Amino acid sequence: MKVVIDGEVRTLKAVWYEDDEVKLIDQRKLPEKIEIFEAKNSDDIAYAIKNMVVRGAPAIGVTAAYGLAMAKKKGENMDEAVRKIGSTRPTAYDLFKAIRYMQINDFDMNSARRYAMEISGRSRKIGEIGNQLIGQNARILTHCNAGALAVVDWGTALAPIRMAHGDGKNIFVFVDETRPRLQGAKLTAWELAQEGIDHAIIADNAAGFYMRRKEVDLVIVGADRIASNGDFANKIGTYEKAVLAKTNGIPFYVAAPGSTFDFSIKSGDEIPIEERDENEVLEINGTRIGPVESHSRNPAFDVTPNEYVTGFITEYGIFKPSELGKLKELMEKDLFM
Ligand code: MRU
Repeated sequence: MKVVIDGEVRTLKAVWYEDDEVKLIDQRKLPEKIEIFEAKNSDDIAYAIKNMVVRGAPAIGVTAAYGLAMAKKKGENMDEAVRKIGSTRPTAYDLFKAIRYMQINDFDMNSARRYAMEISGRSRKIGEIGNQLIGQNARILTHCNAGALAVVDWGTALAPIRMAHGDGKNIFVFVDETRPRLQGAKLTAWELAQEGIDHAIIADNAAGFYMRRKEVDLVIVGADRIASNGDFANKIGTYEKAVLAKTNGIPFYVAAPGSTFDFSIKSGDEIPIEERDENEVLEINGTRIGPVESHSRNPAFDVTPNEYVTGFITEYGIFKPSELGKLKELMEKDLFM
Protein backbone atom coordinates (compact mmCIF):
# COMPACT_ATOMS: atom_id res chain seq x y z
CA MET A 1 0.00 0.00 0.00
CA LYS A 2 1.16 3.53 -0.73
CA VAL A 3 1.79 5.63 2.35
CA VAL A 4 2.88 9.25 2.50
CA ILE A 5 5.57 9.73 5.18
CA ASP A 6 7.08 13.22 5.56
CA GLY A 7 5.82 14.13 2.10
CA GLU A 8 7.42 11.06 0.51
CA VAL A 9 5.37 8.24 -1.03
CA ARG A 10 6.51 4.85 0.36
CA THR A 11 5.24 1.31 -0.07
CA LEU A 12 4.41 -0.50 3.17
CA LYS A 13 2.85 -3.82 4.10
CA ALA A 14 0.58 -4.30 7.11
CA VAL A 15 2.79 -7.14 8.39
CA TRP A 16 6.23 -8.45 7.49
CA TYR A 17 9.15 -10.42 8.98
CA GLU A 18 12.52 -8.79 9.52
CA ASP A 19 15.48 -9.20 11.92
CA ASP A 20 13.85 -12.17 13.65
CA GLU A 21 10.78 -10.11 14.53
CA VAL A 22 7.28 -9.83 13.16
CA LYS A 23 6.70 -6.17 12.30
CA LEU A 24 3.21 -4.73 12.24
CA ILE A 25 1.83 -1.31 11.44
CA ASP A 26 0.25 -0.52 14.81
CA GLN A 27 -3.34 0.00 13.68
CA ARG A 28 -4.37 1.39 17.07
CA LYS A 29 -2.28 4.48 16.35
CA LEU A 30 -3.68 5.34 12.91
CA PRO A 31 -4.49 7.77 11.42
CA GLU A 32 -2.53 10.03 13.83
CA LYS A 33 0.82 8.27 13.42
CA ILE A 34 2.51 5.40 11.66
CA GLU A 35 4.19 3.34 14.36
CA ILE A 36 5.71 -0.11 13.95
CA PHE A 37 4.96 -2.76 16.60
CA GLU A 38 7.75 -5.33 16.95
CA ALA A 39 6.65 -8.80 18.06
CA LYS A 40 9.56 -10.82 19.45
CA ASN A 41 7.78 -13.99 20.63
CA SER A 42 4.41 -15.74 20.63
CA ASP A 43 3.22 -13.72 23.66
CA ASP A 44 3.72 -10.52 21.65
CA ILE A 45 1.90 -12.06 18.68
CA ALA A 46 -1.06 -13.11 20.83
CA TYR A 47 -1.14 -9.65 22.43
CA ALA A 48 -1.05 -7.93 19.02
CA ILE A 49 -3.94 -9.97 17.63
CA LYS A 50 -6.10 -9.83 20.75
CA ASN A 51 -5.61 -6.09 21.25
CA MET A 52 -6.00 -5.26 17.57
CA VAL A 53 -2.54 -3.92 16.86
CA VAL A 54 -3.28 -5.99 13.76
CA ARG A 55 -6.81 -6.90 12.69
CA GLY A 56 -8.75 -8.02 9.65
CA ALA A 57 -9.09 -11.74 8.94
CA PRO A 58 -6.32 -12.31 6.34
CA ALA A 59 -3.80 -10.08 8.20
CA ILE A 60 -4.49 -11.97 11.43
CA GLY A 61 -3.73 -15.21 9.52
CA VAL A 62 -0.45 -13.90 8.12
CA THR A 63 0.59 -12.58 11.56
CA ALA A 64 -0.12 -15.99 13.09
CA ALA A 65 1.88 -17.75 10.35
CA TYR A 66 4.93 -15.52 10.82
CA GLY A 67 4.50 -15.65 14.59
CA LEU A 68 4.53 -19.43 14.70
CA ALA A 69 7.58 -19.65 12.42
CA MET A 70 9.36 -17.12 14.65
CA ALA A 71 8.40 -19.09 17.79
CA LYS A 72 9.80 -22.29 16.27
CA LYS A 73 13.03 -20.54 15.26
CA LYS A 74 13.44 -19.24 18.80
CA GLY A 75 12.89 -22.67 20.35
CA GLU A 76 9.51 -22.02 21.99
CA ASN A 77 7.17 -24.82 23.06
CA MET A 78 5.02 -25.05 19.92
CA ASP A 79 1.94 -26.57 21.58
CA GLU A 80 1.88 -23.57 23.89
CA ALA A 81 2.48 -21.10 21.05
CA VAL A 82 -0.39 -22.59 19.02
CA ARG A 83 -2.69 -22.52 22.05
CA LYS A 84 -1.90 -18.89 22.85
CA ILE A 85 -2.23 -17.60 19.30
CA GLY A 86 -5.26 -19.79 18.55
CA SER A 87 -7.22 -18.43 21.51
CA THR A 88 -6.96 -14.74 20.60
CA ARG A 89 -9.96 -14.09 18.34
CA PRO A 90 -12.57 -16.76 17.61
CA THR A 91 -14.42 -15.48 14.54
CA ALA A 92 -11.86 -14.86 11.77
CA TYR A 93 -11.40 -18.20 10.02
CA ASP A 94 -8.05 -17.18 8.50
CA LEU A 95 -6.44 -17.49 11.94
CA PHE A 96 -7.27 -21.20 12.11
CA LYS A 97 -6.45 -21.73 8.45
CA ALA A 98 -2.99 -20.22 8.98
CA ILE A 99 -2.34 -22.24 12.14
CA ARG A 100 -3.25 -25.47 10.33
CA TYR A 101 -1.11 -24.52 7.35
CA MET A 102 1.88 -23.94 9.63
CA GLN A 103 1.30 -27.16 11.57
CA ILE A 104 1.28 -29.17 8.33
CA ASN A 105 4.49 -27.40 7.25
CA ASP A 106 6.27 -27.91 10.58
CA PHE A 107 6.25 -24.17 11.40
CA ASP A 108 8.86 -23.56 8.75
CA MET A 109 9.78 -19.91 8.03
CA ASN A 110 9.67 -20.37 4.24
CA SER A 111 6.11 -21.63 4.59
CA ALA A 112 5.15 -18.53 6.56
CA ARG A 113 6.66 -16.38 3.80
CA ARG A 114 4.76 -18.40 1.20
CA TYR A 115 1.53 -17.97 3.19
CA ALA A 116 2.01 -14.18 3.22
CA MET A 117 2.86 -14.12 -0.49
CA GLU A 118 -0.15 -16.22 -1.41
CA ILE A 119 -2.53 -14.02 0.56
CA SER A 120 -1.07 -10.92 -1.01
CA GLY A 121 -1.22 -12.33 -4.56
CA ARG A 122 -4.77 -13.58 -4.04
CA SER A 123 -5.97 -10.20 -2.81
CA ARG A 124 -4.51 -8.61 -5.93
CA LYS A 125 -6.47 -11.11 -8.02
CA ILE A 126 -9.64 -10.25 -6.06
CA GLY A 127 -8.94 -6.65 -7.05
CA GLU A 128 -8.66 -7.50 -10.74
CA ILE A 129 -11.82 -9.60 -10.72
CA GLY A 130 -13.86 -7.18 -8.59
CA ASN A 131 -12.79 -4.21 -10.70
CA GLN A 132 -15.02 -5.58 -13.49
CA LEU A 133 -18.05 -4.79 -11.32
CA ILE A 134 -17.12 -1.15 -10.91
CA GLY A 135 -18.33 1.18 -13.64
CA GLN A 136 -17.32 4.73 -14.49
CA ASN A 137 -18.66 7.16 -11.84
CA ALA A 138 -19.58 4.30 -9.47
CA ARG A 139 -20.48 5.19 -5.90
CA ILE A 140 -19.50 2.33 -3.61
CA LEU A 141 -20.31 1.82 0.06
CA THR A 142 -18.02 -0.22 2.32
CA HIS A 143 -18.12 -1.17 6.00
CA CYS A 144 -15.24 -1.56 8.47
CA ASN A 145 -11.75 -1.89 6.99
CA ALA A 146 -11.17 -4.60 4.43
CA GLY A 147 -8.17 -2.81 2.98
CA ALA A 148 -4.46 -3.43 2.75
CA LEU A 149 -4.21 -3.06 6.54
CA ALA A 150 -6.57 -6.01 6.94
CA VAL A 151 -4.64 -8.25 4.51
CA VAL A 152 -0.95 -7.59 3.78
CA ASP A 153 -1.49 -5.27 0.90
CA TRP A 154 -4.30 -4.58 -1.64
CA GLY A 155 -7.13 -5.59 0.68
CA THR A 156 -10.28 -7.53 -0.15
CA ALA A 157 -13.20 -5.06 -0.46
CA LEU A 158 -10.75 -2.23 -1.12
CA ALA A 159 -8.73 -4.15 -3.74
CA PRO A 160 -11.31 -3.68 -6.56
CA ILE A 161 -11.67 -0.04 -5.49
CA ARG A 162 -7.88 0.47 -5.69
CA MET A 163 -7.77 -1.18 -9.12
CA ALA A 164 -10.69 0.88 -10.44
CA HIS A 165 -8.99 4.06 -9.26
CA GLY A 166 -5.69 2.89 -10.79
CA ASP A 167 -7.49 2.39 -14.12
CA GLY A 168 -8.54 6.02 -14.02
CA LYS A 169 -12.22 5.36 -13.25
CA ASN A 170 -13.95 8.21 -11.49
CA ILE A 171 -15.27 6.60 -8.29
CA PHE A 172 -16.56 7.69 -4.90
CA VAL A 173 -16.54 5.67 -1.68
CA PHE A 174 -18.99 5.96 1.21
CA VAL A 175 -17.01 4.87 4.28
CA ASP A 176 -19.16 3.70 7.22
CA GLU A 177 -17.47 4.97 10.37
CA THR A 178 -17.91 1.50 11.97
CA ARG A 179 -18.55 1.94 15.67
CA PRO A 180 -17.40 0.94 18.17
CA ARG A 181 -13.75 0.84 17.07
CA LEU A 182 -14.13 3.12 14.06
CA GLN A 183 -12.16 1.00 11.59
CA GLY A 184 -13.92 2.80 8.72
CA ALA A 185 -13.29 6.35 9.91
CA LYS A 186 -9.75 5.65 11.12
CA LEU A 187 -8.37 3.00 8.77
CA THR A 188 -10.37 2.79 5.53
CA ALA A 189 -10.53 6.57 5.19
CA TRP A 190 -6.77 6.74 5.88
CA GLU A 191 -5.99 4.15 3.18
CA LEU A 192 -8.19 5.95 0.65
CA ALA A 193 -6.71 9.33 1.54
CA GLN A 194 -3.15 8.01 1.06
CA GLU A 195 -4.04 7.02 -2.50
CA GLY A 196 -6.16 10.07 -3.32
CA ILE A 197 -9.40 8.11 -3.72
CA ASP A 198 -12.46 10.33 -3.34
CA HIS A 199 -14.51 9.37 -0.29
CA ALA A 200 -16.68 10.55 2.60
CA ILE A 201 -16.95 9.10 6.09
CA ILE A 202 -20.60 8.66 7.07
CA ALA A 203 -22.16 7.86 10.44
CA ASP A 204 -23.12 4.19 10.58
CA ASN A 205 -26.79 5.09 10.65
CA ALA A 206 -26.57 7.25 7.48
CA ALA A 207 -26.21 4.39 4.98
CA GLY A 208 -29.97 3.94 4.51
CA PHE A 209 -30.38 7.65 3.85
CA TYR A 210 -27.96 7.55 0.90
CA MET A 211 -29.20 4.22 -0.40
CA ARG A 212 -32.80 5.41 -0.51
CA ARG A 213 -31.72 8.56 -2.36
CA LYS A 214 -30.12 6.30 -5.02
CA GLU A 215 -26.66 7.66 -4.22
CA VAL A 216 -25.09 4.22 -3.70
CA ASP A 217 -24.58 1.96 -6.75
CA LEU A 218 -22.79 -0.93 -5.12
CA VAL A 219 -21.83 -2.28 -1.69
CA ILE A 220 -18.60 -4.24 -1.21
CA VAL A 221 -17.58 -5.58 2.21
CA GLY A 222 -15.06 -8.12 3.49
CA ALA A 223 -15.75 -11.22 5.60
CA ASP A 224 -14.34 -12.94 8.66
CA ARG A 225 -15.83 -16.36 8.02
CA ILE A 226 -18.08 -17.67 5.27
CA ALA A 227 -20.14 -20.84 5.79
CA SER A 228 -20.89 -23.49 3.11
CA ASN A 229 -24.34 -22.01 2.42
CA GLY A 230 -22.99 -18.47 1.94
CA ASP A 231 -24.03 -17.02 5.30
CA PHE A 232 -21.10 -14.94 6.45
CA ALA A 233 -19.76 -13.12 9.49
CA ASN A 234 -18.32 -9.65 9.17
CA LYS A 235 -17.97 -6.56 11.33
CA ILE A 236 -21.03 -5.72 13.40
CA GLY A 237 -23.41 -3.61 11.32
CA THR A 238 -22.82 -5.50 8.06
CA TYR A 239 -26.13 -7.35 8.33
CA GLU A 240 -28.20 -4.17 8.44
CA LYS A 241 -26.31 -2.74 5.44
CA ALA A 242 -27.09 -5.92 3.50
CA VAL A 243 -30.80 -5.71 4.35
CA LEU A 244 -30.87 -2.04 3.34
CA ALA A 245 -29.07 -2.83 0.07
CA LYS A 246 -31.59 -5.53 -0.84
CA THR A 247 -34.54 -3.32 0.08
CA ASN A 248 -33.16 -0.59 -2.18
CA GLY A 249 -32.21 -2.90 -5.08
CA ILE A 250 -28.46 -2.31 -4.67
CA PRO A 251 -25.99 -5.14 -5.48
CA PHE A 252 -24.20 -6.39 -2.34
CA TYR A 253 -20.84 -8.14 -2.81
CA VAL A 254 -18.52 -9.85 -0.33
CA ALA A 255 -14.83 -9.89 -1.24
CA ALA A 256 -12.73 -12.62 0.41
CA PRO A 257 -9.92 -15.06 -0.37
CA GLY A 258 -10.39 -18.84 -0.15
CA SER A 259 -8.76 -18.75 3.30
CA THR A 260 -11.91 -17.11 4.74
CA PHE A 261 -14.29 -19.89 3.57
CA ASP A 262 -15.08 -22.47 6.25
CA PHE A 263 -16.60 -25.42 4.40
CA SER A 264 -16.63 -27.46 7.61
CA ILE A 265 -19.74 -25.59 8.77
CA LYS A 266 -23.13 -25.63 7.08
CA SER A 267 -24.50 -22.24 8.03
CA GLY A 268 -23.80 -18.97 9.81
CA ASP A 269 -25.44 -20.32 12.97
CA GLU A 270 -22.23 -22.26 13.61
CA ILE A 271 -19.92 -19.24 13.45
CA PRO A 272 -18.56 -18.27 16.90
CA ILE A 273 -19.10 -14.57 17.49
CA GLU A 274 -16.54 -12.68 19.53
CA GLU A 275 -17.91 -10.47 22.32
CA ARG A 276 -15.44 -7.70 23.17
CA ASP A 277 -14.87 -5.44 26.17
CA GLU A 278 -17.83 -3.20 27.01
CA ASN A 279 -15.59 -0.14 27.23
CA GLU A 280 -15.17 -0.15 23.45
CA VAL A 281 -18.81 0.99 23.32
CA LEU A 282 -18.87 3.06 26.51
CA GLU A 283 -15.88 5.18 25.48
CA ILE A 284 -14.67 7.00 22.38
CA ASN A 285 -10.91 7.53 22.27
CA GLY A 286 -10.74 6.95 26.02
CA THR A 287 -13.54 9.41 26.89
CA ARG A 288 -16.59 7.97 28.60
CA ILE A 289 -19.78 8.81 26.70
CA GLY A 290 -22.50 7.10 28.75
CA PRO A 291 -23.63 7.35 32.40
CA VAL A 292 -21.23 5.60 34.79
CA GLU A 293 -24.14 3.34 35.86
CA SER A 294 -24.59 1.99 32.30
CA HIS A 295 -23.20 -1.20 30.84
CA SER A 296 -22.93 -2.14 27.19
CA ARG A 297 -23.14 -5.20 24.95
CA ASN A 298 -20.44 -5.45 22.34
CA PRO A 299 -20.59 -8.22 19.71
CA ALA A 300 -17.69 -7.66 17.29
CA PHE A 301 -19.41 -9.34 14.32
CA ASP A 302 -22.82 -10.23 12.96
CA VAL A 303 -23.95 -12.89 10.53
CA THR A 304 -25.58 -11.93 7.24
CA PRO A 305 -27.81 -14.64 5.73
CA ASN A 306 -26.92 -15.74 2.17
CA GLU A 307 -30.16 -14.33 0.67
CA TYR A 308 -28.68 -10.82 0.92
CA VAL A 309 -25.47 -11.63 -0.99
CA THR A 310 -25.33 -10.88 -4.72
CA GLY A 311 -21.95 -12.56 -5.05
CA PHE A 312 -18.64 -13.49 -3.45
CA ILE A 313 -15.62 -11.93 -5.15
CA THR A 314 -12.77 -14.41 -4.75
CA GLU A 315 -9.43 -15.10 -6.43
CA TYR A 316 -11.20 -17.91 -8.35
CA GLY A 317 -13.95 -15.70 -9.76
CA ILE A 318 -17.33 -14.40 -8.60
CA PHE A 319 -19.80 -16.89 -7.11
CA LYS A 320 -23.42 -16.58 -6.06
CA PRO A 321 -24.17 -18.20 -2.68
CA SER A 322 -25.84 -21.09 -4.54
CA GLU A 323 -22.60 -21.67 -6.50
CA LEU A 324 -20.28 -22.17 -3.53
CA GLY A 325 -20.13 -25.91 -4.24
CA LYS A 326 -18.17 -25.04 -7.40
CA LEU A 327 -15.82 -22.86 -5.38
CA LYS A 328 -15.27 -25.71 -2.91
CA GLU A 329 -14.26 -28.01 -5.79
CA LEU A 330 -11.80 -25.43 -7.11
CA MET A 331 -10.32 -24.98 -3.65
CA GLU A 332 -9.91 -28.73 -3.23
CA LYS A 333 -7.70 -28.75 -6.34
CA ASP A 334 -5.66 -25.78 -5.10
CA LEU A 335 -2.52 -27.07 -3.37
CA PHE A 336 -2.21 -23.97 -1.17
CA MET A 337 -5.72 -24.39 0.24
O1 MRU B 1 -12.56 -6.65 14.28
P1 MRU B 1 -11.81 -6.50 12.99
O2 MRU B 1 -11.34 -5.10 12.74
O3 MRU B 1 -10.70 -7.51 12.87
O4 MRU B 1 -12.88 -6.84 11.88
C1 MRU B 1 -12.48 -6.83 10.55
C2 MRU B 1 -13.57 -7.07 9.58
O5 MRU B 1 -14.70 -7.29 9.95
C3 MRU B 1 -13.20 -7.13 8.14
O6 MRU B 1 -14.25 -6.69 7.33
C4 MRU B 1 -12.86 -8.59 7.76
O7 MRU B 1 -11.90 -9.12 8.63
C5 MRU B 1 -12.35 -8.69 6.37
S1 MRU B 1 -10.75 -7.99 6.21
C6 MRU B 1 -10.19 -8.19 4.64
